[in-house]
Amino acid sequence: MRTKIVAGNWKMNLNQRESLELIDALKKSKFTSSAQVIVAPNFTALSACSEALQGSGIGLSAQNMHQSESGAFTGEVSAHMLEGVGVSTVILGHSERREYFREAGALLAAKVDTALKHGMQVIFCFGELLADRESGQHFDVVKSQLKEGLFHLPEDAWKNVVLSYEPVWAIGTGKTASPEQAQEMHAFIRKTLANAYGTEVAERCPILYGGSVKPDNAVLIFSKPDVDGGLIGGAALDAIDFSAIVNAI
Ligand code: 13P
Repeated sequence: MRTKIVAGNWKMNLNQRESLELIDALKKSKFTSSAQVIVAPNFTALSACSEALQGSGIGLSAQNMHQSESGAFTGEVSAHMLEGVGVSTVILGHSERREYFREAGALLAAKVDTALKHGMQVIFCFGELLADRESGQHFDVVKSQLKEGLFHLPEDAWKNVVLSYEPVWAIGTGKTASPEQAQEMHAFIRKTLANAYGTEVAERCPILYGGSVKPDNAVLIFSKPDVDGGLIGGAALDAIDFSAIVNAI
């Protein structure tokens, strides 16, 4: 049985006080599923959230991280700093980082290496643009994103990697991939992983879906055999909606 994960990516929303309020509400929620629940607040709220989450069973993730250990990188945050406030997971390669901050290929591979070196769990995001899907390139695009960011890793490193397929056309648009489209791509991803690393790694690696997951579509998406959970944006900002999504798995 693969680990099921539902993670909330709060993006650039909620200040520290608001983040703590949401955590408070989540702690009062009744999670009936056995999924691992993770929240990813912004950097300024991580330390306070880390304290607030102690003993709650909810994991804490950062939304990004610099690839260097330390140094003259004004405005950046290192793995060592994240460790220092109790962060054990980091989201890397999100499409918003790829689109607005030109993160790709070798840079993401370096970030993954640094995070894993620090014993962190990496939620690695990737996914095609609408134009890629419309031109039938979506499988090739996903395969090369996986290759560039992750396929240099030794087999053993995969125990700390979670994949998150997020078709860019479904993020924040209210337009979700159909459960069949998600399953088709997730099966492809698992096959690609099996070809590169063998079936054991492929069968063990959780593959999340992200892109307009809401309480009313989560059950069907999560019912697909290769969908192991979700990375949730907008709906993760509401405790009731997020809990409903967690409980949909
Ligand atoms: P939405 O759920 O708002 O579409 O965002 C998905 C996402 O980008 C999660 O990382």
